Amino acid sequence: MQKKYTYQAVCLSLFISFQTYADDLVSGQIIAAKSCDRCHGEFGISDDTDTPHLASQSVNYIVKQLKDYKLKARKDKNMYKRAKKLNDEQMQNVGAWYESQLLPETNPALRVNIKTPALINKGDVDRGIPPCDLCHGKDGKTSIGSTPVLAGQQFGYLLSTMEYFADGSRSNDPGGAVQGILKKLSDVGMEALAIYYSHLGGREIEE
Ligand code: HEC
Ligand code: HEC
Repeated sequence: MQKKYTYQAVCLSLFISFQTYADDLVSGQIIAAKSCDRCHGEFGISDDTDTPHLASQSVNYIVKQLKDYKLKARKDKNMYKRAKKLNDEQMQNVGAWYESQLLPETNPALRVNIKTPALINKGDVDRGIPPCDLCHGKDGKTSIGSTPVLAGQQFGYLLSTMEYFADGSRSNDPGGAVQGILKKLSDVGMEALAIYYSHLGGREIEE
């Protein structure tokens, strides 16, 4: 008898936590539709090369960036205006909603001529550059901690945010580690990396 009650209690609490997750996603979807989709696109798929996709981006990364914009640790006028209106729970909900959206695969035909830059998997020992895939994963889809998923991201956005890291106008990376790496890249090197990542295809989050 005792066992049966325990089983029912577990089922009930699982149901309640599923229900809460579903409610949180709905709240996130409402915020996205009202305040974010206009620029980031319906379902977080942006149609502007300078505006990042948010679909399939990791919730931890989205929340960290929103907090950074709100504190002006990452500077952008438009995003400051939006982030300052959100509390922690709303950030979490809108982040979870975008993480749950799929970013479609890019056309494989567009990828055939794109070589993998050596920096992706080898780095450059002479210049002290670690391979990008150490943190971003072999397919650009890893999102450990609050590391962003890069696969399929908009080309224009990738290039400009790398330039901001390199010239110090973006400096919200923990310990300055990403700035340290990107400062060592040439403009041509950055462009090749942005082309590579933007063509990597969809970015379903790995389990
Ligand atoms: C007026 C257009 C606009 C609106 C509205 C807007 N964004 Fe943004 N967002 C941008 C642009 C442009 C960037 C890139 C800014 C930069 O370079 O820092 C950005 C960056 C971001 C980033 C960082 C992405 C990354 O890969 O680092 C997040 C997260 C984000 N926005 C979330 C949101 C959320 C959530 C909302 C709604 C509450 C929202 N944005 C509303 C234009 C907008
Ligand atoms: C030591 C781990 C590490 C390595 C190695 C690394 N990154 Fe990152 N990268 C990060 C983290 C963490 C962030 C998020 C920083 C923050 O909180 O804003 C990031 C952010 C970025 C962003 C911004 C993404 C966005 O959506 O705004 C780009 C672009 C990027 N890295 C490209 C690269 C490239 C290209 C390389 C290789 C030359 C590289 N990274 C190597 C950890 C790393």
